[in-house]
Amino acid sequence: MKIAILPGDGIGTEIVAEAVKVLNVLDLQFETETALVGGAAYEAHGHPLPESTLKLAKEADAILFGAVGDWKYDKLDRPLRPEQAILGLRKNLGLFANFRPAICYEQLVGASSLKPELIAGLDILIIRELTGDIYFGQPRGRRTAVDGHFPGAEEAFDTMRYSRPEVERIAHVAFQAARKRSKRVTSVDKANVLETFQFWKDIMIEVGQQYPDVELDHMYVDNAAMQLVKAPKKFDVVVTGNMFGDILSDEAAMLTGSIGMLPSASLNSSNQGLYEPSHGSAPDIAGKGIANPLATILSAAMMLRFSLNQAEAADRIESAVQSVLAAGLRTVDIYSEGTTKVSTREMGDAVVAAMTKTTIKG
Ligand code: IPM
Ligand code: MG
Repeated sequence: MKIAILPGDGIGTEIVAEAVKVLNVLDLQFETETALVGGAAYEAHGHPLPESTLKLAKEADAILFGAVGDWKYDKLDRPLRPEQAILGLRKNLGLFANFRPAICYEQLVGASSLKPELIAGLDILIIRELTGDIYFGQPRGRRTAVDGHFPGAEEAFDTMRYSRPEVERIAHVAFQAARKRSKRVTSVDKANVLETFQFWKDIMIEVGQQYPDVELDHMYVDNAAMQLVKAPKKFDVVVTGNMFGDILSDEAAMLTGSIGMLPSASLNSSNQGLYEPSHGSAPDIAGKGIANPLATILSAAMMLRFSLNQAEAADRIESAVQSVLAAGLRTVDIYSEGTTKVSTREMGDAVVAAMTKTTIKG
């Protein structure tokens, strides 16, 4: 098994280091190789996704990714911005299925901006299509761009587009995921305005006929955004396009009060996957040693389960995370009175310690 480690920018390096520490405790045979990506790769090689990094990612069974981006790159021409690295990885590896669970951890109910009764026990799975939609529509309106901006331009445009196979395959992913949960799928669209999403909705209904045991409903994206804060527990599996999924997954993650806790997986059709925290590179707190490494540690667990076929090892990491939370350890983002504030490294060490204890107990 080969794991590509791509820490990226900002807090990426700090949190990925903790996840690697956790992986190394496991008694598993795997090889890791680290490479630069995002702004860090741009600084060193003049490109956010150098050929060597892409090659490593392609060869690996799985990729553990930190985060990319920094405001200081806002003046770069768009193809050179750090974000293009993650988009390039998704496209080049065909990582079309993005799983973003939004789970409210019992110990963190108080950290949400919503009333506890609205989110206690929340467990939503957002499945975001990741390689189509307006993110990858052609042509993009960059004819008149100068350094990624449009001084004096009269127009700019992006095109929204989905093909039938793209929608069909993400529909299957959603229905199959729902079969392992409460057998309900909500497809989020904007069929009342956009052709692309009427097409999306039609295909969801068609594919849904192959899953008579799964209940399918449809919701417009604006309503979904509202329902997510009004009654989030009504949702189970949510499937949506790239753009709406980007927005709704941030919303869903934050209403759990613990965006620093949420992992994500992006898979292709051969189960090769990229695993990353749901949060970004947080340049404002980078280098301070205060970032929460748990989302990345839990992403490593997801990686073991989905791409490396090591469910037991994944369980071990997840229960270690539960036990450090139960012991009251908190990084600053999830801190509340009566708990113990710890640094990024202390949190990683605590997870390692909890895992080591599990082994001794047998
Ligand atoms: C995400 C991020 C990315 C996206 C950016 C960094 C390109 O916001 O993974 O949600 O828009 O998909
Ligand atoms: Mg996003």
